[in-house]
Formats: sequence, structure tokens, C-alpha cells
Amino acid sequence: MEIELFKFEKERYSRFDKDLMAIETACFHPNIQETTHCKKKLLTLEDAIVFLARDNKIVGESYALPLNRYKKYPDAQKLIYYYEQRNMKALYHVSLAVLPEYRNKGIGRKLLHSLLNEGRQRGYDVLVAHARIGASLALHVAFGAKVMGSYPNWFKTGDTYCLCEIPLKNSRLGDMRPKG
Ligand SMILES: CC(C)(COP(=O)(O)OP(=O)(O)OC[C@H]1O[C@@H](n2cnc3c(N)ncnc32)[C@H](O)[C@@H]1OP(=O)(O)O)[C@@H](O)C(=O)NCCC(=O)NCCS
Repeated sequence: MEIELFKFEKERYSRFDKDLMAIETACFHPNIQETTHCKKKLLTLEDAIVFLARDNKIVGESYALPLNRYKKYPDAQKLIYYYEQRNMKALYHVSLAVLPEYRNKGIGRKLLHSLLNEGRQRGYDVLVAHARIGASLALHVAFGAKVMGSYPNWFKTGDTYCLCEIPLKNSRLGDMRPKG
């Protein structure tokens, strides 16, 4: 299967609208799904970093925003303050999702890899995420994430999410590669 990864251009949002909402409903608990309106707003923000994976339709997404642009998670102000105090530029990973029938083929890893490299090129010090325990956390850890806290029953989804941070600078390699 040949999956194409590409950087999303906001001008083309309407072409992908339906596929992106299909990912939302297939991949996330109803309590944390974005509405059509919100998703469009987030993905078309000037400073959003968005990568999509395509087969005959969009099958995966990964996007991130400057930490102070997305405040829907618990302790948002505390986290923003934490990085401001340290003079660190932080990028918040809003979504990593792959349609169920396309999982475990390395698409999530490639999407995260692209996002990390782009974040680093744009001068961010860290990528911050609330990663769900399971494949998502495993992928973040594979790229060097440090776990900073955990949130059981995240938004009453029944799932535990871990707050984690991936450093983007001072990496030994020219391009980030997963550890191990
Ligand atoms: C997280 C997600 C995007 C991963 O996508 P994917 O394309 O399957 O990811 P990959 O195939 O690149 O890698 C998955 C890795 O997780 C591992 N994995 C899968 N299920 C796992 C589990 N329950 N616990 C730990 N690791 C797991 C796989 O072994 C694989 O690691 P490997 O490459 O070292 O073998 C996908 O599972 C998903 O969309 N989940 C639902 C949405 C979600 O929870 N998003 C994250 C919210 S923070």
C-alpha cells in the first residue's frame, strides 16, 4: 500500500473537510471530538502545522499549534506559564490519528516524525502533548518524550492520557528519527 504524506495547505480545506471529520468520529471518543466548525478553525490558523496521510482518501492526520493558541486541556494556563518562565517556545500536539483499518503500518510514526521535523525547523524548543496510553504514548516515547504527568479518565473518556514533552533542539541527528 502506497500512502502519501503531505503538508496541508489551508486554502484546500474544503476538499478534505468530509475526510477530516470522518477521522474525528472514527478515532476519538465523542467527549473529545472537535466540531466541524472548530476543526476548520484550528487547521486553517496561520501558525498551525498540519500533516495528512492519503490513500484514496485522507487516512491520517497530525497537527499542532503554538501552546498558547490551544487551551482546551486541563491546566492550560499553568503549562503556558511553565514554558514562558523558561523562555521556551512550545508547540502543542493537538491531534495524531489514523483510521482504524490503516493502523499499525507505520503511518502514525511518519506523521509524528514529519511534525517534529517541521516544528524544529520553525524554531520550537519542545513539542508538548497529552498522549493516550497505548499506541500514541508509545510513539511519543519512541521519539524521546519525557512523561510529565498523567490524567486518568481524560474528559470522562475512560482513558488515561499522559502529559509529555519531546525536545526538538540539541538532537544529535540532522533529522529526527525514532529511538530504537
Ligand atoms: C495513535 C495512532 C495515531 C497510531 O497510528 P498508527 O498508524 O497505528 O501508528 P504506527 O503504526 O506508526 O505505530 C504504532 C506503534 O504503537 C504500537 N502499539 C500499538 N498498539 C499499542 C498499545 N496498545 N500499546 C502500546 N503500543 C502499541 C505499535 O506496536 C507501533 O509501534 P512499533 O512501530 O514500534 O511496532 C492510532 O492508533 C490512532 O489513531 N489511535 C486513535 C486516536 C488516538 O488515540 N490518538 C492519540 C490521541 S493522543
